[in-house]
Amino acid sequence: MKNILVTGCAGFIGSNFVPFFLDKYPKYNIINLDLLTYAGDLENLRECEGNPKYKFIKGDICNRELVEFIFTEYDINGVIHFAAESHVDNSIKNPGVFIETNVNGTFTLLDVAQKYWMDAPFKYKERYLETDASANDGVQTSLPRFHHISTDEVYGTLNETDLFTEETPYAPNSPYSASKASSDMIVRSYQETYGMNTVITNCSNNYGPKQHDEKLIPTIIRKALASENIPIYGDGKNIRDWLYVLDHCKGIDLVYHTGKEGNVYNIGGRNERTNLEIVDAICSILDAKVPKNRSYKELITFVEDRAGHDRRYAIDATKLESELGWRADEDFDSGIVKTIEWYLEKYKI
Ligand SMILES: NC(=O)c1ccc[n+]([C@@H]2O[C@H](COP(=O)([O-])OP(=O)(O)OC[C@H]3O[C@@H](n4cnc5c(N)ncnc54)[C@H](O)[C@@H]3O)[C@@H](O)[C@H]2O)c1
Repeated sequence: MKNILVTGCAGFIGSNFVPFFLDKYPKYNIINLDLLTYAGDLENLRECEGNPKYKFIKGDICNRELVEFIFTEYDINGVIHFAAESHVDNSIKNPGVFIETNVNGTFTLLDVAQKYWMDAPFKYKERYLETDASANDGVQTSLPRFHHISTDEVYGTLNETDLFTEETPYAPNSPYSASKASSDMIVRSYQETYGMNTVITNCSNNYGPKQHDEKLIPTIIRKALASENIPIYGDGKNIRDWLYVLDHCKGIDLVYHTGKEGNVYNIGGRNERTNLEIVDAICSILDAKVPKNRSYKELITFVEDRAGHDRRYAIDATKLESELGWRADEDFDSGIVKTIEWYLEKYKI
């Protein structure tokens, strides 16, 4: 049995990840630590309720006492860390909570994990290597792993042609991306200094079921269906590289189990789209599925640009593809139809 602490699973990506992971690995117990901020909703995890391999604990990743309790009570031997403040707009209005959760929270988890797994005389290491060598289930053969989920936004903004690789220097431009960049650096330092078994994945913009209403794609769908203006920042030509959330979950699974210790992997869908192309695509699909007397495109309204709005993000996922054999199953055209269908069901349309 492996007992994995997965943080922030009541949010968008974590709540897609947990059912996928429980289904794939019946030998794992998942302990979900989530504070249930405005971004967390247990409704997202209803399908896991009653599953004896899943346990929810409401609490703050910054609460050291609680995190220590969880490690000892459940003998945690793996961490996948999603919990974060994640919305750039909010980080412009209220940066403090981003530093607290994303920087101090990540530090607390890492430090407790390091002490629990590696403190002198490395008892856990000896015990773990012994049991794992005999069991040798091919899943994990080194120290317990700490997998930190991060973002491509740490790399800053791109010109029209370059791609972010794992070697791209960090140049975060918003309090959100700066807090994530800081947390990545702390993770790196625990690997370099203490030899912790860490991996970091930096992924591009996710989309799919269960995303919070505040984000771009749910906002477009919701506003369109309500016949309200669909707000688009600036000229609508900012480019993001869209990744279907289940493809992200599959990438995390691969890196968690087979990624090289201390390594960083970029995860991106090779689906660059301007915001205008996104809104156009969604409106066309809605025009076909839920026709009204005029096209949803007539609702598009340009609003004042976001401060410090990065122009383009695009990921080069070659390392993940060539080293670990990852491929995205969905392209944007297929993923966005699935996403819209999920929202139509949610709104009972
Ligand atoms: N959504 C994306 O497109 C995207 C892209 C790249 C990276 N990421 C990263 O992936 C991770 C998950 O993103 P998401 O979109 O699912 O986020 P989300 O905002 O939907 O969910 C975050 C979850 O973390 C919980 N949380 C917040 N503060 C907490 C705290 N102090 N203690 C415990 N739990 C807390 C919230 O309650 C919520 O359930 C984040 O680390 C984010 O930076 C997201």
